[in-house]
Amino acid sequence: MSARAQAFLWRSLVAHALGAGVGLVRGERRTPASVRARYDAARQGLLDRLQMLDWDQYTRLPSDQYGFILLDGDVVWGSLRTVRDRMLDRLRAVTAAYACDGATVVEFGSGDGRNLLFLQRHFPTVSFVGLELSKVSVELSRQAAVRFAVPNVRFHVADVCENLPPLPPHGEVALSFSCFALEMMPRVFRRAVDNMARASSVGLVFLEPVPELSASWASQDAPSTRLQWRLDRRRDGALRTGV
Ligand SMILES: C[S@@+](CC[C@H](N)C(=O)[O-])C[C@H]1O[C@@H](n2cnc3c(N)ncnc32)[C@H](O)[C@@H]1O
Repeated sequence: MSARAQAFLWRSLVAHALGAGVGLVRGERRTPASVRARYDAARQGLLDRLQMLDWDQYTRLPSDQYGFILLDGDVVWGSLRTVRDRMLDRLRAVTAAYACDGATVVEFGSGDGRNLLFLQRHFPTVSFVGLELSKVSVELSRQAAVRFAVPNVRFHVADVCENLPPLPPHGEVALSFSCFALEMMPRVFRRAVDNMARASSVGLVFLEPVPELSASWASQDAPSTRLQWRLDRRRDGALRTGV
């Protein structure tokens, strides 16, 4: 292992241990308010730098960001863009199954909007809606859509575990998906899953490392590790699962 990787590992270990220790002493718990505050602060920095970023840096991550990544079952030191690109390939392939002309796709916990901006360029006849807890993230997503001239994408501030803002009619929403967002709300995401299932008339996709999803929602075909699985609503209303 390189000296750079070792230094990173040690710094991460110390930072996590200190953070966990302080949190324990203070009795801190993750709440929607604490998640919102964290992402508001982090995305303000990105908003300040937005005009300096190009399309690839924004949607695929900067090419010079390195860290430990899980690649083909091995933890290796590598470019974060490598795994981001794989995730985007997956997201594009999954969306292709639902992306008919005039349909709407909704992302739950859309962050800085980069997934939807990316998808819109690949599926120009589809509309996209992002729901996101952090107000700064929504402002950033809207400004990024303007900066990169991406049409047909809207972002709303919403806690997806509560009542949702008005969405397009149920029959028009072909896909609800989440990507590393439900994992932020491990004790309350059941309500989010209910909202996602209600919003979509056809597909429901999770790109999430949340094993509880498989236990509570799909007893058959449950994937065991970093999971991506989906539920499709058939015409008769029944759900089927797939990976
Ligand atoms: C790790 S980020 C992922 C963002 C985006 N899905 C992506 O793949 O780039 C998780 C996002 O989920 C959002 N989030 C967490 N809890 C939420 C909730 N209850 N309602 C809406 N968004 C939420 C966070 O604010 C954050 O932007």
